[in-house]
Amino acid sequence: MSEKKDKSTTKKTPVYGILAEYSDPAVLIEACKKVRDAGFKKWDTYTPFPVHGIDPAMGIKPTILPWLVLGAGLTGLATAITLQWWTNAHDYAWIVSGKPFWSIPANVPIMFELTVLLSALTTLGGMLALNKLPHPSHPLDLKERFERVTDDKFFLLIEASDPKYDAEEVTSLLAEHADVVEPLMDDDQTPAELPRGIIYALVVLTAAAIIPFALAAHARESHNRSPRIHIVPDMDWQTKYKAQRVNTFFDDRRADRPFVEGTVARGNLQEDDHFYRGKSGNTWARTFPNQVEVSEATMKRGEQRFDIFCAPCHGLQGKGDGMVAQRAEAIGAGVDGWVPPSDITDPNLMKQPVGQLFNSITHGVRNMPAYGPQIDPEDRWAIILYVRALQRTRNATTKDLSPSEIASLK
Ligand code: HEC
Repeated sequence: MSEKKDKSTTKKTPVYGILAEYSDPAVLIEACKKVRDAGFKKWDTYTPFPVHGIDPAMGIKPTILPWLVLGAGLTGLATAITLQWWTNAHDYAWIVSGKPFWSIPANVPIMFELTVLLSALTTLGGMLALNKLPHPSHPLDLKERFERVTDDKFFLLIEASDPKYDAEEVTSLLAEHADVVEPLMDDDQTPAELPRGIIYALVVLTAAAIIPFALAAHARESHNRSPRIHIVPDMDWQTKYKAQRVNTFFDDRRADRPFVEGTVARGNLQEDDHFYRGKSGNTWARTFPNQVEVSEATMKRGEQRFDIFCAPCHGLQGKGDGMVAQRAEAIGAGVDGWVPPSDITDPNLMKQPVGQLFNSITHGVRNMPAYGPQIDPEDRWAIILYVRALQRTRNATTKDLSPSEIASLK
């Protein structure tokens, strides 16, 4: 910088290059071919519009930008595949609705996105870098003649820094085709350092860019009971009582209120002692209630319910040898006071009134749990009908056979 200042004070600005002006693109192309064949490297042309055929005339090779973009795109693709495979299928395999940890279709959006992202950024950044942009100042900016480059004049500039540069040779080479040939002086007016305003702006912007991160860091460390940003409260704050919370309105301070003694839900009065409790007066009912139809269909329903609710313990034939009982035997549960399920075809149980059986299912009996909460009264009666059938089949006598059946046995 000081060097430059010295030179400006001595009014001896070094030559930046030799500039030639043309008024016809065809002539410019001819000149270009000459300069190219002469072997110059540091030179360029400036035209008001793209001139066809100027690239080969100048000996410019096709840009490598497409290859850079291809590389960037493939890098993005590979990154997306690796990232998703590593996170989803390898490092933290997490079952989501039974979907496979690794499948191409699910990963396509990110693969597409990263490919496009890196390609686009490389296209822009590569274009700027390969063109050596941004280029805030150039000696040509100060040349008055050069202003017509955006209008009707064509220019060719050979820089003095070219190894083959020789002022006289270059001038005579260009003079062959050009309208005007003259030296271009180096820029001695544009200050080398950035304008203060830009520096201050950069400092302020950098400081401002830290603020969001600082706020995020602060938020991670601080505690606040109310939501930070709550523009639309919706129904988040209501004058209502939440379950399992304290409520000072009631003496016992419970928000959850117990049922009022003797409350019966609609349609659950269950006044019929026979149907709901298997009682007839003070004794167990010996008959099925009127609501239960003693029929083939009820029997089938009973069988089906028995096989679901009773057979696991009592076995399909009611002999007390269901899967639970077998398992208990197998692991030697008997030692620990295991009570096996009763054989419900036992003749003693045959003598039990149906009402008592109903009660056993409803409330359980000794070690057997209650099934009232799980099985409707209708189904409990249907099960009892089936239990009666099981009992008959396992304790049948010749009295149960018809004369013709007895005859066929003989
Ligand atoms: C979890 C296993 C289990 C299931 C399921 C089960 N029971 Fe029992 N049941 C037992 C056991 C154990 C006993 C014997 C209880 C005792 O003697 O302490 C028993 C006893 C009985 C008795 C004899 C009651 C008496 O007065 O001696 C009957 C009848 C009976 N069960 C019927 C049923 C019916 C009907 C079902 C289906 C609704 C059923 N059980 C489901 C385990 C079961």
